[in-house]
Amino acid sequence: MNFELKTLDAAAAAGHKTDALIVLLSAEAKLPAGTLAKWVADARKSGDIDATPSKLLTLWHPEGMQATRVVLVSTGDGHAVRVRQAVTAAMGALKAAAPKHVTVCLPDANAPCLQAAAQAVADASYTYTATKPSAKAAALKRVVLALPTAAKTKAAKPAFEQACAQVAGVALAKEWGNRPANHATPTQLGKVAQGLAKHKRMSCKVLGPKEIEALGMGSFAAVARGSREPMRFIVLQYNGAAKTVAPTVLVGKGITFDTGGISLKPGAGMDEMKFDMCGAASVLGTFEALGLLQPNINVVGLIPTCENMPDGLALKPGDVVTSMSGQTIEVLNTDAEGRLILCDALTYATRFKPRAVIDIATLTGACVISLGHVRSGLFSPSDELAQALSAAGEAALDPCWRLPLDDDYAEGLKSNFADVANVGGREGGAITAAKFLQRFAKDYPWAHLDIAGSAWKSGAAKGATGRPVGLLLQYLLTA
Ligand code: BES
Ligand code: MN
Ligand code: ZN
Repeated sequence: MNFELKTLDAAAAAGHKTDALIVLLSAEAKLPAGTLAKWVADARKSGDIDATPSKLLTLWHPEGMQATRVVLVSTGDGHAVRVRQAVTAAMGALKAAAPKHVTVCLPDANAPCLQAAAQAVADASYTYTATKPSAKAAALKRVVLALPTAAKTKAAKPAFEQACAQVAGVALAKEWGNRPANHATPTQLGKVAQGLAKHKRMSCKVLGPKEIEALGMGSFAAVARGSREPMRFIVLQYNGAAKTVAPTVLVGKGITFDTGGISLKPGAGMDEMKFDMCGAASVLGTFEALGLLQPNINVVGLIPTCENMPDGLALKPGDVVTSMSGQTIEVLNTDAEGRLILCDALTYATRFKPRAVIDIATLTGACVISLGHVRSGLFSPSDELAQALSAAGEAALDPCWRLPLDDDYAEGLKSNFADVANVGGREGGAITAAKFLQRFAKDYPWAHLDIAGSAWKSGAAKGATGRPVGLLLQYLLTA
């Protein structure tokens, strides 16, 4: 899909050839006088269009317009959330027509609105085809985002570029999130990362079992031991600033399938555990966006990736493993494997002397119970980092919510046989998981995003969302 930014005043909009012209109407914003403005005024008088968000009116081959279809859609107060809903509704109305070329007319250069519109168009036309040859690839090839004046177009340029990069990053994260575990193995994720290194200023190193063992990542390696698929540790680097500038490190959980191991999960819905690498996918997607944008910052991406399987060599409840940090861990439940692979990656992160480390993981079912599918869980002992990530989530319409990290929550992680146990009780499970990780993230400002509820959708719309690529990109570009 190709995005363009264009100026279309009233006359140009009338003469603009496109399969569908989507015109966003906020309650306040006025259209430049012309054919469109007259219709809108008339339709408002007749009540066919009003300020109700997402209310829409479709015109077919309207006289005096070159567009095949014109969709007038209300964005209510004009907030980015309403813009996203309005564009989604308009794209829904156009579904049967399968337009190849869509133009969205925005009233002004508001960055969140522009990004919301671009992402909504992309999401509406995304089709998964990798293992479904019968699926028809999306027809949409060309998307024009239009503003009414040249000055507004100029002001919108940076937001437009960020929007295009975000769309590409989200698409990559969705694509790999959606692929089944036998088409998205640790080896294949390593290849995807190596492919990203084609971007300027980007490099990639993929470590295999021998190298991972040699680093002393005993906790990560113990999880991988139950699977025939060899583990990988992916190190991506984007160097857009001087070597002396401390990087931000992103750590993504890459469990390509989580059976629970010997603490086997129930069968119902277990297929969704192919999504247990969505943290890793979000790191890959964010690097794709960085590669396209080329900002002047340094970023490191770390991805421990393996399967969690039951096997003769698999971890058993009660086993004690030694992490790269030297801390020993009693594995009371082999289904709490995410923290076991992340803790070694967090220790590895220290060598980059990072300004901040953010891990992203589909870590706990408990987080889904706490926050549902709307907001990701955010944990950080640093108010500053938590504030920056929260703000980035709001701006990118990829929101998160901070949960506490009081030391009392770590009580349940005490072990008689190791420095720490890998599970506490059932209660406050998302927080005890974060408390476990915190023990390995003492050397730098750290935050943890639990995306168990936000990374994918279940039911009829089952599929990866590409979150939190939008949040991460927004944070990296503004922090
Ligand atoms: N990948 C799961 C978390 C998960 C479960 C995400 C369901 C989304 C939906 C993780 O590895 C896991 O199994 N966590 C356990 C932890 C428990 C054993 C302490 C959980 O949440 O049940
Ligand atoms: Mn698990
Ligand atoms: Zn898991």
